[in-house]
Amino acid sequence: MSLTRNEIIEILKSPVAYDGKSFSDTDNSLFTAATATARALFNNTVYQRGVIEFSSHCRKNCHYCGLRSSNTDLLRYRLTHVEIMDAVETAAAMGMGTIVLQAGEDEDVNPHFIYTIVRAIKEKFNLAVTLSLGDHPDDVYRLWRDSGADRYLLKIETTDTDLHSLYRPGQHLYDRLNRIESLQRLGYETGSGIIIGLPGMTEETLTDDLLLLSTMGLDMIACGPFIPHPQTPLRHAAPGKLLESLRVTALLRLLNPATNIPATSALDSLRTVRNNDGRILALNAGANVIMPSITPDEVRSSYSIYPGKNDPALSQNSTVKLLQSRVQQAGFTLSSQAGSSMQRTFRAQPAI
Ligand code: 5AD
Ligand code: SF4
Repeated sequence: MSLTRNEIIEILKSPVAYDGKSFSDTDNSLFTAATATARALFNNTVYQRGVIEFSSHCRKNCHYCGLRSSNTDLLRYRLTHVEIMDAVETAAAMGMGTIVLQAGEDEDVNPHFIYTIVRAIKEKFNLAVTLSLGDHPDDVYRLWRDSGADRYLLKIETTDTDLHSLYRPGQHLYDRLNRIESLQRLGYETGSGIIIGLPGMTEETLTDDLLLLSTMGLDMIACGPFIPHPQTPLRHAAPGKLLESLRVTALLRLLNPATNIPATSALDSLRTVRNNDGRILALNAGANVIMPSITPDEVRSSYSIYPGKNDPALSQNSTVKLLQSRVQQAGFTLSSQAGSSMQRTFRAQPAI
């Protein structure tokens, strides 16, 4: 479906009538159109990606993120090869079809460490592997692709060049976009996305984000609300809004029918949301993927990108089971397949 810039802005600016229970007629029709589009390709299937957050060290200092290098209050950890492989086994047993290896930009992780892990996963399990490891030179991306990694996730965070450089000190949007192109050239199924509601973002910014993301030929697009972290410069900023995040999810689905779109975990960290409802609402607005954390209990609460990410009060096992049962109760079918990009299948069709 094509939507003009003005139509998108109008949807994003339409009055907020959500009372916690029901949406306005306009929002209801938007979400219905988005779920119908998702259903046409994915039925009611929800793909499961188990995220293993194996290192909380990061050399970068992004203003919004709790893992930023200036945050001295955070316990930093790094899992061993054996600990990661144990988590992969747990993920497979819990029905995940994909493993997402995620970490801060940890300078003490040798690229060959990742190579060996991906090889080991591919040898032992029939699982897709996504890497979410930030900015690296092309030869490192190539090495990891040669190890058998299927996908790479690198979010652009915002297309506003000023905000991008402000919140990601020393970084430029264009470098990030070039990296995404490199990943695509190397044959990765490539994902990107933004944070919704960073301070200074307007509906216009968000619209430009959506339009750019929708022209990049992405296999996955992940957009979650901003959650202020108390140990960052943005600690006093307002969080992103639930309704805006759901509208973004639905608009993305309409603009990108075949792309994998996760119901992001950040939705459930909004204070207004309980019991995985944020993610269920996103599945009812066109998302088709969930990405639960499978990081071991001993360290998972230290992967504190934003507060509420991995609740220390709940074990990894019970968090995943709770989410899975909520998704099923909401009428979706959980899949343990890899859920590879349909976008690619469609792109590969000759133009008629
Ligand atoms: N709120 C929401 N998302 C965040 N991320 C980092 N910090 C926050 C935050 N405070 C997201 C970014 C990053 C991913 C690892 O987590 O999009 O790419
Ligand atoms: Fe590091 Fe990523 Fe957090 Fe930035 S967003 S500080 S690169 S973990």
